[in-house]
Amino acid sequence: MSNPQPGEKVTTCGYSFTWTEDHLSKEELEPFRQQYDELGAAALERIQAIRQESQNKSTDVYEILRDNHENDPVLTRFWDEVHTVPSWVDWDQIARGQQFFYRYAVASVVGFALQGFMAENAVVPSVVEVLVRTGGYSSRMLLGRLLETVQWIIQVTHSAVSIKPDGEGHIATVRVRLLHATVRHRILQLCQQRPDYFDTETYGIPVNTLNSIHSICMFCCNRMWLQLPKFGPTPLGQRQIADYIAVFRYLGYLVGTPTGYFETVEKAKCTMESLMVHEVRPTETSRVMVDNFLACVTNLPSPFRVSSGFVAAGGRWINGDKLCDELALERPGVVYYLSFVGFCVFATALAWAQKLIPGFDAVMVNFFRKQLYNGIVQRKSRTRFDFKYVPQVGKKTGKVVDDSKGQASSRGLDIGLAEIIFLVFLGGCLFIVVRAAIWAHAGYRWLTACHL
Ligand code: HEM
Repeated sequence: MSNPQPGEKVTTCGYSFTWTEDHLSKEELEPFRQQYDELGAAALERIQAIRQESQNKSTDVYEILRDNHENDPVLTRFWDEVHTVPSWVDWDQIARGQQFFYRYAVASVVGFALQGFMAENAVVPSVVEVLVRTGGYSSRMLLGRLLETVQWIIQVTHSAVSIKPDGEGHIATVRVRLLHATVRHRILQLCQQRPDYFDTETYGIPVNTLNSIHSICMFCCNRMWLQLPKFGPTPLGQRQIADYIAVFRYLGYLVGTPTGYFETVEKAKCTMESLMVHEVRPTETSRVMVDNFLACVTNLPSPFRVSSGFVAAGGRWINGDKLCDELALERPGVVYYLSFVGFCVFATALAWAQKLIPGFDAVMVNFFRKQLYNGIVQRKSRTRFDFKYVPQVGKKTGKVVDDSKGQASSRGLDIGLAEIIFLVFLGGCLFIVVRAAIWAHAGYRWLTACHL
């Protein structure tokens, strides 16, 4: 899409806004496609050389960095950068922003899956082309991969101490930065052997600066403007938004992404909206990713399993029909929409209960902080963000072949336990509203009769 004109109303992915002078033009963003985290790349090169030279062939890039940063000028520069806290970091604000992650945890996880994954990760061609070359996005590996990302989010939101230099979340983020450098290095290496392996002219350098700015947006901005508000009138204050963006501005700094775009809430929102206009382009590969995502979530164990109809209803509700048609998402029946509306009412009611009862909010925040940490960060198969999905010529994530497809209709209505609960919840709410209306009406008639 060419640049919209200031004052023009833009609608994309089910979200509308007015284009202003502050939005970023395509020409402004395009050079970032050929830029990348050069310091991270140089550090990785040194780490690999040290690994080659050393007798003790440790495979842990972070350990090599930690043990050698004092003797190698490139590693010293990298180490110093990630250990220097920028002057704009306010730890109290960071702690508040981290707490906010746990505040609307249920809605956020659903929002991340339906919007962040389907309408963001899967529809930016230059990101998708990297992801399908690192096979973790096959339906078999996807759940593990999503858990790894959630593990990182929990590590970096656990406490301020966790993302201060040498904290658990800080180390995890430095590992992720080096992991990105490894992915980029491997893809570019394959390009040298086979120039057609990855089209750097069209997509840019793998894991480039533009992609990285976009990813930071996905982590922080999307939750505020594209996810939570779609569930209902969620009580989001300006301060909460600013605090949450501040967390990811700092994390962006740690993973080698320019941070100026996240300096203020207004700038962050404009960046998110500009990238939606310039970068969202569903392709055939996007459809493969969405199919794999569907195969993954519809095969989860109960009570987490959801039907493809529920995912399609939620996806369409949040991202709009236009994008979902382009992604060839099914058009589900009304039951699935009602179930999703039940979920939205539940999420909104919970959010307001937390807003109005601070004690309840504290219980919820602590509950999710503790349970998610114990369940995900401390799980046996927790990751150290090693390089697992090594790109290879001729290997790309393909479409899942699901034999059960098409059998759903012959089995009758395919609906998960959670969906039934949301339907019952919606029915209960409607019953209460109708009863309240009848009582109010009866009371009004009684009062007017008394006055007569
Ligand atoms: C700048 C913000 C970003 C953050 C905070 C971030 C975060 C993460 C995290 C936590 C992981 C480890 C968990 C997992 O395997 O999913 C990861 C891995 C990965 N990321 Fe990113 N990411 C960012 C940007 C990007 C971009 C822009 C791309 C590609 C265009 C990308 C591609 C990958 C790939 C391919 C892996 C998996 C590598 C492997 O395990 O072999 N990331 N990222």
